[in-house]
Amino acid sequence: MACHSVDKKLVGPAFKDVASKYAGAKDSQALLAGKIRKGSSGVWGPLPMPPNPRVSEADAQKLAAWVLSVK
Ligand code: HEM
Repeated sequence: MACHSVDKKLVGPAFKDVASKYAGAKDSQALLAGKIRKGSSGVWGPLPMPPNPRVSEADAQKLAAWVLSVK
C-alpha cells in the first residue's frame, strides 16, 4: 500500500482502475498474478512496478482476484 490505493493513483494505478481496465478480459486473474510477481511496465505510465518475488503464486492469485473485485 506504499504504492497503491483502492481509489487513488499513488506510485502505481488505483486498484479500481486496474479492475475496470481488465473487467471481463479473459484470464485476467492469471495475467495480473504474473505481473504482481514479475513486475509490470509501460501499461500505466513511465514508472515500472518492480517484481514482488516474496509473494507466493497462491498469494499472487488471491491478490489478483481481490484487485479485480475492487469497484
Ligand atoms: C504485492 C504487492 C502489489 C500488488 C498486488 C500490485 C498490483 C499491481 C497491479 C495489478 C498492477 C497493474 C498491472 C498492469 O495493468 O499491467 C500494478 C501496476 C503497477 N504497480 Fe503494483 N502492485 C504491488 C506492489 C507494487 C509496489 C511495491 C510498487 C512500487 C514500488 C508498485 C507500483 C506499480 C506501478 C508503477 C505500476 C504500473 C506499471 C505499468 O505501467 O505497467 N506496485 N500493480
